[in-house]
Amino acid sequence: MTKAFVIGHPIAHSRSPLIHGTWLKAYGIDGSYEAIDVAPDALSEFVAQLRAGTFAGGNVTIPHKETVFALCDEVDPLARRIGAVNTLVARNGRVWGTNTDYLGFLGNLDQQAPGWDRDLSEAVVLGAGGAARAVLVALAERGLKHIAILNRTIDKARDLAAEMGTQFSGHALSEFSKLAPTAGLVVNTTSIGMHGSRFEDLDLGLLPQTALVTDIVYTPLVTPLLADARARHLRSVDGLGMLLHQAVPGFEAWFGVRPDVTPELRAAVEKTL
Ligand code: ATR
Repeated sequence: MTKAFVIGHPIAHSRSPLIHGTWLKAYGIDGSYEAIDVAPDALSEFVAQLRAGTFAGGNVTIPHKETVFALCDEVDPLARRIGAVNTLVARNGRVWGTNTDYLGFLGNLDQQAPGWDRDLSEAVVLGAGGAARAVLVALAERGLKHIAILNRTIDKARDLAAEMGTQFSGHALSEFSKLAPTAGLVVNTTSIGMHGSRFEDLDLGLLPQTALVTDIVYTPLVTPLLADARARHLRSVDGLGMLLHQAVPGFEAWFGVRPDVTPELRAAVEKTL
């Protein structure tokens, strides 16, 4: 039997066992996927034990995504650029780390808004934390000409833009009104939107009518930002699909089947929100 895991601390809230468990059943695979609580001081030993091959691999979540990086034998270049690892594969006595969050972000938009990146040259990304990095790398991968990072702490936006490359620029949130008229995409990567909190003074009315607005927050599913976009008849995509799509490459690597993100899977996870 092939075994996989998700490690975090705490881990009880993780929806990954539901996602992978649904796929294992749907594809009739003799495998398991379990949530394991690993405290920070036990992480190094856990990763070392993976080399023995008990598990095919697993997911890594808060607070280990950055610290597990240094414990891997190999980390793929995009995960290195993002600065975090969320997926481990154990093979031939080695542990390989990758980051599938950027693929989850792209997979969600590709499924929910096909063609979203056609003729798209400018995007506005709200936030400059860990979650923003996966989105920025994803957008760079799709060849956008200009990606503006807007953040409450402007220095963080500027530092991140400088680190990411010449097509990025860093700004204060207040510069949204200046950047919006030519932005084809707005992505919220901050925790604003959770529990009803909202951005002050973000006028989506300044965006082109063809713009797409997406949020990586999925609790609630329709954040105030997405509700605002809908009310203005802008295209919008919620963040739940990113969670589902980021799970695809791991499942394929461990169990050998590329799983589909179906409406049934989405409905099963939505019920737990
Ligand atoms: P994550 O890994 O989820 O991205 P993080 O690295 O702590 O978490 O980053 C949180 C992001 O949300 C940051 O961009 C943060 O802005 P600051 O850099 O100014 O702290 C942003 N954020 C969180 N709460 C916010 C709030 N109330 N208003 C504006 N931005 C907020």
